[in-house]
Amino acid sequence: MSDYITIALSKGRIFKETIPLLKAAGIEPLDDPETSRKLILDTTREDVKIVIIRATDVPTYVQHGAADLGVTGKDVLMEHGGEGLYELLDLHIAQCRLMVAGFENKPLPTDTLRVATKFVDCARRYFSSQRRQVEIIKLYGSMELAPIVGLADCIVDVVDTGGTLKANGLVPLEHMYDISSRMVVNKASMKTRSTEIKAMLAQIESAITMEK
Ligand code: ATP
Ligand code: PRP
Repeated sequence: MSDYITIALSKGRIFKETIPLLKAAGIEPLDDPETSRKLILDTTREDVKIVIIRATDVPTYVQHGAADLGVTGKDVLMEHGGEGLYELLDLHIAQCRLMVAGFENKPLPTDTLRVATKFVDCARRYFSSQRRQVEIIKLYGSMELAPIVGLADCIVDVVDTGGTLKANGLVPLEHMYDISSRMVVNKASMKTRSTEIKAMLAQIESAITMEK
């Protein structure tokens, strides 16, 4: 067991929105991932380090104990499956919705539906629960392009303001799940580092309550 607790964060909105919450637990990174190329950041607490990884990799690092804790979107967590980790806390940050989107005036086909998404398992489970037949086309980004160029009939993606859909002539069609980011912990770390982790969580929880 290392001497410090490792927290996995992704650059961008999760990092920006998590930092004020970690500050409540006395944790402030000593480098800014937007300007530094460092992947392991020291913090104002000697016993805590932050690792910077891709958003979709956070559950994998935590599952395998390469990070004790992590912050990840519920969308990413559902797609991962949640093996080897506990979902501890809803941080109420990076809020959005997982939706089916497509063209406004073009009904979706009633036979096989071609769905472009990076959320392959989530989409498969959702359509299968409705007994709808789908062909899933796995993409890694810019999902909105797929219906426009005829690659798919619709997409499954996260939507916040709806601006990206609108800019590409698409509309939200079905609301699948409300999404926010969650604090997750490795199952073994929760046992071996229970005292430190619980203290940290209590401080973060009170910061969330104050923000509300
Ligand atoms: P990766 O780099 O691994 O492909 P990503 O680009 O989706 O991941 P982010 O864009 O930082 O990573 O999104 C992180 C999380 O923030 C998502 O998993 C989702 O829960 C949430 N999110 C994504 N887009 C938005 C948005 N426009 N508004 C609010 N929250 C969002
Ligand atoms: C996300 C998502 C949508 C957009 C939705 O992309 O993939 O494209 O946000 O937000 P909106 O409804 O407010 O327009 P993001 O900005 O994270 O870019 P990325 O997919 O390149 O990470």
